[in-house]
Amino acid sequence: MIVCRTKHEVANLISNSVKLNQTLGLVPTMGSLHQGHLSLISEALLNNDIVWVTIFVNPTQFNDKKDFNNYPKNLKKDLDLIKNISNKINVFHPCVSEIYDGKPLLKKYNFNQLDLELEGKFRSNHFNGVATVVSILFKLFQPLHAYFGEKDYQQTQIINKLIDLEKINVNMIICSTVREKNGLALSSRNKLLSIKNKEKSSIIFESLLFLKKAFNKNINKLYLEEIKSTINLFNDFEVEYLEVVNNKSLQIELELNEHESYRAFICVSVNGVRLIDNILLN
Ligand code: PAJ
Repeated sequence: MIVCRTKHEVANLISNSVKLNQTLGLVPTMGSLHQGHLSLISEALLNNDIVWVTIFVNPTQFNDKKDFNNYPKNLKKDLDLIKNISNKINVFHPCVSEIYDGKPLLKKYNFNQLDLELEGKFRSNHFNGVATVVSILFKLFQPLHAYFGEKDYQQTQIINKLIDLEKINVNMIICSTVREKNGLALSSRNKLLSIKNKEKSSIIFESLLFLKKAFNKNINKLYLEEIKSTINLFNDFEVEYLEVVNNKSLQIELELNEHESYRAFICVSVNGVRLIDNILLN
């Protein structure tokens, strides 16, 4: 496993790969790796000669400085986890000024409202920050495939749009959400939960499954409000949003169309830790 800290080192290794006709897969992460990230890496190993994992906590996608500072970091553990998987994996772990060539700069994109829905309503400019860094990574690595998790479904739609807008030649692969036994989607932020709250957080996925079962019947605003109130009964739990939206536009539709697909999205703040999840309903 090679660990690079600079773009220059990466560029040298990539040009070697190009000479050797090696295919590259890219797995962008913010580290504090768990089985969800590892599932993306395993998928990437199946279809590429070399897999690049990037570990970079990107400041431009955090609108809350406290959230950025609290974001769990553990490089040594991350590298230990990766190094025994395969010798086809390289890691890029740059510092902020290396990625941004100096001071971080946020690029503003026109995502046709996609960035303003759901997470966008609570984290202003979050998706511009994600797109800014992913665009830098795509240009540096020029991978054949790039791997992202369905857990952050809105993010996958933003990256799809970014690929369109910047005419980037890459195949995006979306990998299914890996979960705890109790259904809670794995997330680096789960480390910030107490054991008790982690157990109780099973209600998040249970609520999504409940909605999926009830879909076609009566999913109206009142129904969603009832589920929200049930979750809010738990100490420390506060639902930021629970929405059923069109799977492509991510917009709420007053009347559901049987020819369209819909997805439910949820965000619950558990003692200040934001947990997100989603499910395809039909
Ligand atoms: P991060 O939260 O570290 O996630 C890295 C990738 O792992 C994302 O594509 C995410 O959707 C995926 N992932 C996270 N939890 C998962 C789970 N339980 N199952 C399957 N996949 C999961 O997402 C980011 O970082 C950043 O926004 C990034 C794209 C790296 C840009 O900074």
